[in-house]
Amino acid sequence: MSATADSSAIESVLQEDRSFEPPAEFAAQARVQAQQFWDMTEAAKADPEQFWGELAERELHWFQPWEKVLDWNLPFAKWFVGGKLNLSYNCLDRHLDSPRRNKAALIWEGEPGDSRTLTYAQLHREVCQFANALKSLGVQKGDRVGIYLPMIPEAAIAMLACARIGAAHSVIFGGFSAEALRDRLNDAEAKAVITADGGFRKDKIVSLKPQVDLALADGKAPSVESVLVVRRTQQAIEMVQGRDHWWHELQPQMSADCPAEVMDSEDLLFILYTSGTTGTPKGVVHTTGGYNLYTHMTTQWVFDLKETDVYWCTADVGWITGHSYIVYGPLSNGATSVMFEGAPRPSKPGALWEVVEKYGVNIFYTAPTAIRTFIKAGEDIPKQYNLSSLRLLGTVGEPINPDVWMWYRRVIGGDRCPIVDTWWQTETGGIAITTLPGAAASKPGAAGFPLPGIQTDIVDRAGNSVPANRGGLLAIRAPWPGMLRNVYGDPERFRRTYFGTIEGVYFAGDGARKDEEGYHWIMGRVDDVINVSGHRLGTMEVESALVSHPAVAEAAVVGRPDDLKGEAIAAFVTLEGTQQGSNSLADELKQHVVKEIGAIARPSEIHFTEALPKTRSGKIMRRLLRNLAAGEAIAGDTSTLEDRSVLESLRLS
Ligand code: PRX
Repeated sequence: MSATADSSAIESVLQEDRSFEPPAEFAAQARVQAQQFWDMTEAAKADPEQFWGELAERELHWFQPWEKVLDWNLPFAKWFVGGKLNLSYNCLDRHLDSPRRNKAALIWEGEPGDSRTLTYAQLHREVCQFANALKSLGVQKGDRVGIYLPMIPEAAIAMLACARIGAAHSVIFGGFSAEALRDRLNDAEAKAVITADGGFRKDKIVSLKPQVDLALADGKAPSVESVLVVRRTQQAIEMVQGRDHWWHELQPQMSADCPAEVMDSEDLLFILYTSGTTGTPKGVVHTTGGYNLYTHMTTQWVFDLKETDVYWCTADVGWITGHSYIVYGPLSNGATSVMFEGAPRPSKPGALWEVVEKYGVNIFYTAPTAIRTFIKAGEDIPKQYNLSSLRLLGTVGEPINPDVWMWYRRVIGGDRCPIVDTWWQTETGGIAITTLPGAAASKPGAAGFPLPGIQTDIVDRAGNSVPANRGGLLAIRAPWPGMLRNVYGDPERFRRTYFGTIEGVYFAGDGARKDEEGYHWIMGRVDDVINVSGHRLGTMEVESALVSHPAVAEAAVVGRPDDLKGEAIAAFVTLEGTQQGSNSLADELKQHVVKEIGAIARPSEIHFTEALPKTRSGKIMRRLLRNLAAGEAIAGDTSTLEDRSVLESLRLS
């Protein structure tokens, strides 16, 4: 826990008085209207077990009912104890005996302009065949499977196939390096890896299978027995006899009959690695029943999902947003979910709007960092497209600046679409704070209210609630079905990280304030996590990557504000021996971090320095480095600094 996780250090300067009521027509037809929202919030508070139990019974298919809704043995929660279900069944099979059978489940748009639509019946068939392919390679219930794929339909098929046979998936974002991939595969002890020859990213082809080869080389990921490879980019790759198999060769040989495995509500569903203050990334554990219900309900409530909607979340399935709101939440609801391999870029700035127009997208969910790139490209670009199908907009991943919010509303939403600013985390499983679009007015820059069943509080370090409009730490006081269950293989780390900072209460790692109307304003991380373009990185991970370079003696990494990325990585580095810093060494170090972690972790700047500012007990004072990196005056107390001259020399460097 860093010294900055102190509520007194969190002060919000944002003064924002604008507020937008849901349009009358939208509110009148909303799935959750204002009174209903407050009634649900009350009901969930008064009797959470009854509230979630009723929804679980009404909304999901169970092979066997649960005996108890909640077993809460702080910090360990069990939801729907003894209940049996299968998430893939809930996302696929149960839609087949209805008109949804031939409805588009996934509409996929590839980067080079190819596209594919899979109806529920077709997706079901593909998932069953691929589930049988996994079985044929010896993957069984309880095993773990790594998924390292670009944004292609096979990513969703692979996830659903794992869920179908009860193997837990661990999706690893395709931008992670071979080293990062290996660490995750080893931590999860994955039995198989599903990858592709490569992927199209912007105007480039990125290689994936060669990264897997590197990760597995020399027996360094010994648990992996098989690699399944999707042919996507047609590059020449090597296939290792006996270990590697082409998806397109194996899949068609498989039967399309694969009954969904009967899973316990608390059986492991997936592991997703995410960054924290200390150590290596944590394997966040989600289980079957609670996650299914929570993502199902939040998709319905927050996106006001209607049967005919075309819904599009632009995230990558490598992150939790893709898990919960491209794949599981929408499909469990029988929705049409758009999946896009591409990204806006200077050569194709209208790429996203083309997709909105082509498919008549109604609900569009993206990240503030993407909106900032749209703003930079200019409002003439979206104006060239017909965006009139849009009826609801969403954002996620980082705080959104009110001006960016206003641009989004005016230019993309034509001043008619409500915006849901959704706060949540890998750990929460699903959206936890937002304004439901037909139930409450939204304020630019405010996430809004906790969803029914989420007991947020803004507290000081001792866990005492702070008054309205005072900054504090965002905490959640009661368990909810979508919450993480553990850190894979490390229950003590789970307890300490999430329930040890404020004893007995879930600590999210964010600062926030609640205004007098109860709106939550998220103020960003208060720990050593940086949010670069909505991607979460621990400063310590980047520091470890830097010091693994032979020239580096010590490194300290901080985030500094960046117009496009939200935060950029600034690194302060001391060198071994008599080595001198230079531009070429800075480039080499940046490249080294890319190799160790991936391009998302590339430092924007490297400052070479003789020494780092430390306290007398040897702790690096990152707070001062943050001030320096942001070009601000040094704020706060510097009396604990061991050597004040370090600051002077840093200022000059
Ligand atoms: O700091 C918060 C920020 O993203 C963190 C969670 O990151 P991750 O686990 O990668 O999940 C991102 C997608 C759910 C949070 O601790 N964050 C997420 N949504 C918002 C946000 N910050 C402000 N406003 C949001 N709407």
